[in-house]
Amino acid sequence: MKRYAHIIGWGKYTPDRILTNNDLSHMVNTSDEWIRTRTGIRTRHLVSEGETTATMSIRAAQAALEVANVTPDQIELIIVATSTPDYLTPSTSCLVQDALGATRAAAFDLSAGCSGFVYGLGVASGLIQANMYNTVLIIGAETVSTFIDWTDRETCVLFGDGAGAVVLQASESAGGVLASVLGADGSGAELLYVPAGGSRQPTCADTVAQGLHFLRMDGRQVFRFAVNVMPIASRQVCEKARLSLDDIELFVPHQANDRIIQAAARALQIPAERMFTNLERYGNTSAASIPIALCEAVESGLIKRGDHLIMGGFGAGLTWAAAAVQWSMPWPVPPQPWWRKTLRWLHYRWARLRSWALRTLRRLDVEIRKPFNHEAEGESQPQREEQMK
Ligand code: ACO
Repeated sequence: MKRYAHIIGWGKYTPDRILTNNDLSHMVNTSDEWIRTRTGIRTRHLVSEGETTATMSIRAAQAALEVANVTPDQIELIIVATSTPDYLTPSTSCLVQDALGATRAAAFDLSAGCSGFVYGLGVASGLIQANMYNTVLIIGAETVSTFIDWTDRETCVLFGDGAGAVVLQASESAGGVLASVLGADGSGAELLYVPAGGSRQPTCADTVAQGLHFLRMDGRQVFRFAVNVMPIASRQVCEKARLSLDDIELFVPHQANDRIIQAAARALQIPAERMFTNLERYGNTSAASIPIALCEAVESGLIKRGDHLIMGGFGAGLTWAAAAVQWSMPWPVPPQPWWRKTLRWLHYRWARLRSWALRTLRRLDVEIRKPFNHEAEGESQPQREEQMK
């Protein structure tokens, strides 16, 4: 029996702190007029103290699980698409797994720039179709603001922070993710990159002094690449899904620049209204932009059950990705009984307690084992007594 991967839940989280174009005009040599006309952006949301890629991912994931009516222990795999993880290692997805109490889930991060979420959708739907998993949580989350040089007007006006998530589940009913197209061209790696902080140039006082830990971008080249690749990927994924462009009710493109989105609409010869945009309020939230836009498109009633949509992204790498989806969920989703919400709340409390207990036990274990470890290392009793003094 053929298996399909359906999106059964979606959720987003955007931080409360808002930075307007006017605020930026007091920080660098720019203006509201320049930013609006060149990008379409008016405001962007930025993290506050204590908020990170993981904390935003957790909030978006909890919202998606609620819509899907899925409990964390049903999740078998968590993919977090991000280029701005909490740590280089461990993965942000492991932090999410722990906070959700998704004890049966495997977890990994996916780094494909702004295409990351659609890459995740392609990978997860393939794994579901191959019968490897039934329920997968895919998150796109970014804290780009922490990698931005706030004195560089060419990048700081573009980006924002946020997270979006979907729950993908196996079904025998036709629909869901119909096809995906993933692509890469590493010859463009230096067009959009963070030069230091990796193994090529580890962080040191010198790299920090030179600002090499900030995002660098050749905006014009990225613009040209995006305008070229968006229509190509959209056509390819349509063909793969055996759809025509006229079958697509809504395009949910990566929200980088309104001019890129309009150019893609012209190249595809589709009316601008069929391109969903919300970048005016959020700016470019990188891997989070498509799932956040998807949530808003669904919740504003623009996507109905049976509709076909294309999600398409491009970004650092360089990478690009497009997915064709047949939507199978109603909106609004039927309300859940109060006790389900209570159970969910209790589960997240338990997950916190579990995490704390496991960390504490591990610490205690280390303390208890210390004397035995000394013995195993061949230290004699007098040597140990000497050390304890
Ligand atoms: N305010 C005022 N002037 C500015 C600003 C600013 N914030 N930024 C640049 N300028 C100036 C430039 O210095 C230049 O001045 P000059 O002509 O004297 O040299 C002038 O404006 C025009 O600059 P351009 O780079 O030609 O401007 P352009 O119209 O190309 O717009 C932009 C720049 C918005 C960055 C555009 O190229 C773009 O959107 N590129 C794509 C970026 C993108 O999508 N990046 C994310 C990819 S996804 C990911 O993986 C994260």
